Amino acid sequence: MHATWAVVFFLLFGFNLPKAKGNCYLEKSQEHCVCSLLERINIQTLLHCLQATTYELRGGNLKQFAVFSIIHTSPELIQYILGGVKVCKLIFTNLIVPEVLLPTAMQFAASFPQVSELEFINCTFVKSADQLDTDGFDLKVSSLHFHKVMAAPLDDRVDISSLRSWLETLENLSVTESEVTSIPCKISTVLRALRFLDLSGNRFQDQGIEKSFCKGAFPQLQVLKLHGNNLTSYETVCQTLAHLNQLTHLDLSQNDFVPELVSSPCLWPPSLRVFNLSSTGFEHIDRSLPPDIEILDLSANHIFTLDLSIPGLKELYLSHNRLPSIPSVKGLPSLEVLSLDHNQLSQLPTEGLLHLKNLHSLKAGHNLYNCSCRQTIKEIQDLATSKALLPDWPHDYICSSPLDYQDYVLNEVPLSSLQCSRAAMLRQGSGATLLTYLPLVLSLLSLPAYRTQPIVL
Ligand SMILES: *[C@@H]1O[C@H](CO)[C@@H](O)[C@H](O)[C@H]1NC(C)=O
Ligand SMILES: *[C@@H]1O[C@H](CO)[C@@H](O)[C@H](O)[C@H]1NC(C)=O
Ligand SMILES: *[C@@H]1O[C@H](CO)[C@@H](O)[C@H](O)[C@H]1NC(C)=O
Ligand SMILES: *[C@@H]1O[C@H](CO)[C@@H](O)[C@H](O)[C@H]1NC(C)=O
Ligand SMILES: *[C@@H]1O[C@H](CO)[C@@H](O)[C@H](O)[C@H]1NC(C)=O
Repeated sequence: MHATWAVVFFLLFGFNLPKAKGNCYLEKSQEHCVCSLLERINIQTLLHCLQATTYELRGGNLKQFAVFSIIHTSPELIQYILGGVKVCKLIFTNLIVPEVLLPTAMQFAASFPQVSELEFINCTFVKSADQLDTDGFDLKVSSLHFHKVMAAPLDDRVDISSLRSWLETLENLSVTESEVTSIPCKISTVLRALRFLDLSGNRFQDQGIEKSFCKGAFPQLQVLKLHGNNLTSYETVCQTLAHLNQLTHLDLSQNDFVPELVSSPCLWPPSLRVFNLSSTGFEHIDRSLPPDIEILDLSANHIFTLDLSIPGLKELYLSHNRLPSIPSVKGLPSLEVLSLDHNQLSQLPTEGLLHLKNLHSLKAGHNLYNCSCRQTIKEIQDLATSKALLPDWPHDYICSSPLDYQDYVLNEVPLSSLQCSRAAMLRQGSGATLLTYLPLVLSLLSLPAYRTQPIVL
């Protein structure tokens, strides 16, 4: 399937307005009216829907939908009937849409300026033999969504230039789970007002991204979602998106980035504030990150060590990794939210964390807590109770050792029975070396009682 062309096709589609046939009822709220094409006409039910602003047409084949032949013969009548309806959004679900209906449908759509949002869910667009005539429509739709749609390749059956003035004003576009591999450059560069683009769950590979984000593509883009595609090169994605200087939000989660040799690291757009690298296969973060991000999601990777320095970072998500100890937070002074749950932490030392003045939420349940030491438990209890930092306390904090307390909830371990000393704690802590004990040794040496004695080291 020429999935590339699917996008072109959808963009050109415009819309059909369902009315006057099928059973209609209000769903979800008073604002949302659903009409089923599979049932018999019932004009009465349509009256229930007069106050709705969202209309959904669900199930069947649009070919059977008489309204389109009425448009040909009597467009004024249709306009008269629908003149009082305050519809803003149209949704088409589970439909077969013959391409031949498009020109009529678009003509129809153009006469309803208050409709600004169109959505197609699980629709199949069926190819027609003729050239599609798309001349002379003035659509006002600013948000267009396609989810799980299928279409035949458009090839040269449509002249894009006739839709240019509409495409140039489109602000929101999503094409999700539709097996799309790229967007033709001639479309990307026309989408000059686009701010929000969701391409999640498609088949974009690195080359597809390079083609779609060609020079001059999407100059106003602010939010880009590419999760669940087939991207593999972090560098290529960075270089390809580097020119998007309005981009604030980038979601690359659920792609499988492979390690690569990087000679000159790429620079991400400095405007980026939210960056999602969840489920991307990272073992450590040795690549360039955007400098001014405020929210970074690194959850569900294989990260074992981490040393970040991002002064403005407010939220850091590290759930579902392999961290054996808390990563250094020295370079993250603005941190407000930190998640460390589902890792391999055996303790949660407070020092360091308490220097984070703005920290108000720390999720650290589902780790491998070692409950041998009173100190370990007291520190976690302190974070939970006096600092009120742990939203997942106490049920998610389970001891994994020693055997006696395995599967105990941390706050149910009888503290009085624990023997472990501070020194044992330090030995157990990560990276404890002789240096750790040096202050202890020195403080012994400087006790007044020893001072009078000459010290020979
Ligand atoms: C998608 O639409 C087709 C009809 O075009 C329908 O048979 C099918 O059940 C729909 N799938 C879902 C998941 O609703
Ligand atoms: C575009 O989509 C986003 C997210 O769904 C929404 O918040 C925003 O209001 C939309 N903008 C327009 C112009 O429809
Ligand atoms: C793309 O990803 C999907 C699921 O994420 C996978 O099933 C498919 O095999 C991948 N295709 C290629 C060409 O890598
Ligand atoms: C990142 O993406 C994952 C899914 O891919 C989602 O569950 C998560 O909420 C996102 N993180 C943020 C901070 O938006
Ligand atoms: C738990 O801590 C104790 C005391 O420091 C130590 O002896 C023991 O080896 C630790 N257990 C595990 C599984 O790390």
